[in-house]
Parts: sequence; C-alpha cells; structure tokens
Amino acid sequence: MPDTQAIVFDLYGTLYDVHSVVQQCDAAYPGRGVDISTMWRQKQLEYTWLRSLMGQYISFEQATHDALVYTCNHLRLDLDETTCTVLCNAYLDLSPYPEVPAALQRLKDMGLPLAILSNGSAFSIDSVVKNSGLQEYFSHLLSVEPVRVFKPDPRVYMLACQALDLPPPRILFVSSNAWDASGARHFGFDVCWVNRRDNTFDELGMAPSYVLRGLDEVPGIVSTENWQ
Ligand code: LAC
Repeated sequence: MPDTQAIVFDLYGTLYDVHSVVQQCDAAYPGRGVDISTMWRQKQLEYTWLRSLMGQYISFEQATHDALVYTCNHLRLDLDETTCTVLCNAYLDLSPYPEVPAALQRLKDMGLPLAILSNGSAFSIDSVVKNSGLQEYFSHLLSVEPVRVFKPDPRVYMLACQALDLPPPRILFVSSNAWDASGARHFGFDVCWVNRRDNTFDELGMAPSYVLRGLDEVPGIVSTENWQ
C-alpha cells in the first residue's frame, strides 16, 4: 500500500505568501510595509498560541485584527478604522507562491486527495482560496473552528484524519512553518517542511521527514515514496 494516500497543506506562509500584504501596508504607511507585515504576522501567531493556552478561542480574523492593532501601537502608527479594515481584508486576498498552482496540478494528476488544514476560519480559508482561483484542487478545506483551538494542538491535526478517514502515517503534511511542521510530526503525520527562505528549523524535539525548497518538489517525494 502506498505510504501517502492524501496530502494536507498548511495555508498561511505555505501555499500563500502572508507578506503579500506589504504592498497595502506600504500604501497606508509609506516605507513601513515590511516592518508592519513582519511584526503583524509574528504577533498574529503568538496570539493564536496564547489564546489556545488561555482556553479563550477567538477567530483567526480576530487574532489578525488584534495583532495589527498591537503592531501599529508598538510602531507608533495611527490606525483608523478604514485603514484597519483595508489591511485586515488584505489577509483575505493573499497571493499563492509562484510554483503553487502547477505543483497542485501535478499532485492532483497523481490522483491524490489534496486538503488544506489551517488555523484560519472557514470564511478566511474559503476567501483566500476562492480569490486566488485554486478551489478546484482541494477536496477539503479544513478550519480549526470545530475544535476551537489552534495548531499545533493535536486536536486540530486530528480533524484531517477524520475528514479524510486515514490514520496519521498515511497523510503527508506540508508546511513552511517550522512550529507547525513540528506539531504535525509529533502528531504522527509524515511531514514536508518547505523551507523557501533558508530559515532555521525549530528546536521542539521533532525533525521533518523531508526538507524541500518549494512546493514543486512535493510530487517527487510522493512518487519516490509510493514506488519504494
Ligand atoms: C495556518 C497558519 C497558521 O494554519 O500558517 O494556515
């Protein structure tokens, strides 16, 4: 039996570039786009982890909103309601990384079900995927909403097993976020860490099964695995 029977992707930072928002940040605050986007993403993640620890689930959109407010406060930038709405909406219209559509097509042609499992709400995931026109590739768009906790909580990874009716080792999980790749490996998935930017893997006691430079390398992994 082939090892991999389905592929599950993280969304933010893996399929889609969260720093596509730099342009809108720069339009609102000239010259500050990169600083804002970098701190915004970091705080957004921290808020998801902290909310999970507090047992105080909020939607990913709310975490994104709160992180933007923090970032602008910290950088001493005045954030009016219109700018806040424009920038938060930019998170619903992110660009996929350039190699993503062709890689998804190749994987789909191999006959594997493809899914997204994201900390995003169902609304956020649907919006990002539909706005980029990639919805045809996915059999499942899975949000953390049913379990009201964020990755890397194991209850989130379990959602993929339930939806696909597969045990963890039959699922190949693909993420660019080292903390997510660690959580997924700990849960028992086979894991590809997509390291596009020469990042350092997290010290969380886990190693990814594969380290790739881009999504275009995933089809090679699947075909090798399945012919061993
Ligand atoms: C995701 C983010 C957190 O779950 O990368 O899509």
